[in-house]
Amino acid sequence: MATRLKEPAGISVTKLHPVIGARIDGADLSKPLDPATVEAIRDAWHEHVVLLFRGQEISGEDQLRFAAHFGTIAERHKPKAGATKVDTPDWTNLMPVSNKKDENGKALGGLGDGEMWFHTDKCYHEKPHRGSFLYGIDIPSEGGHTKFASLYNAYDTMPADLKAMLGGKRVMQGYDYAQDSRLNRDVNLDNIFHFSQPVYVTNPGSGRKALYVSRLNSMWIEGMDRDESEAILQQLFDLIEAPSNYYEHVWEPGDLLMWDNLACLHARTDWPRHEDRELRRCTTLGDALG
Ligand code: SIN
Repeated sequence: MATRLKEPAGISVTKLHPVIGARIDGADLSKPLDPATVEAIRDAWHEHVVLLFRGQEISGEDQLRFAAHFGTIAERHKPKAGATKVDTPDWTNLMPVSNKKDENGKALGGLGDGEMWFHTDKCYHEKPHRGSFLYGIDIPSEGGHTKFASLYNAYDTMPADLKAMLGGKRVMQGYDYAQDSRLNRDVNLDNIFHFSQPVYVTNPGSGRKALYVSRLNSMWIEGMDRDESEAILQQLFDLIEAPSNYYEHVWEPGDLLMWDNLACLHARTDWPRHEDRELRRCTTLGDALG
């Protein structure tokens, strides 16, 4: 879909999908941006949640400078001491998202190979990271797409009785570095990052409500029988992951995607194991959720 919307501050905004995502043209992120352009991008981000900037030739410094317009750059968290798997050993604020290895077989980046389930960055910390900025460097010939599901549209289209029933409820969000599928409900919480978050999150940028649950991270709805909670969560996951509710991004080198972690989930499709995939990510800090 290519619906040209408006042309503020020298940029153009073109919708990528009916419920989420827009492409921004007319901004060169390798150069400092003027305040009017930054404000226009911020407005578009609040409205469309995921923004694509195509054909960018940017260094890590450029990426950090751009991201810093939208919040304080976040430091990366190391895995908990009890975790069975460690992330990339290079703890700078720019994280290589890569399956490449050095000559000794040591990972050169984090989040390695293969499919990733729908999730949102750092929902298992009290203050989840707000923005994520991912830059495409080395892209496989097929697959390795990133999917973005709208949590606004999911909230808006929930059955009314379920929406009312979950009002004011909280959900336990967790992440186990050793686990790439649904968390075991018997996991020792001391060994994983976890935090109880509101099921509905009002976005500070748009004022819209989002359904803040994901198949990878949401363990149970607090104060509810665990089996009942699981049945409801599965219903919500299916609603969020419905094909009509997500945009699937097919990467090109030079793509910069930015997204709002309070308003969307993201997931990744698999790609041929012998092919390299490398992107570069940074995130910005967020606030505790009300
Ligand atoms: C991520 O979850 O931030 C990585 C997504 C991707 O590799 O496409």
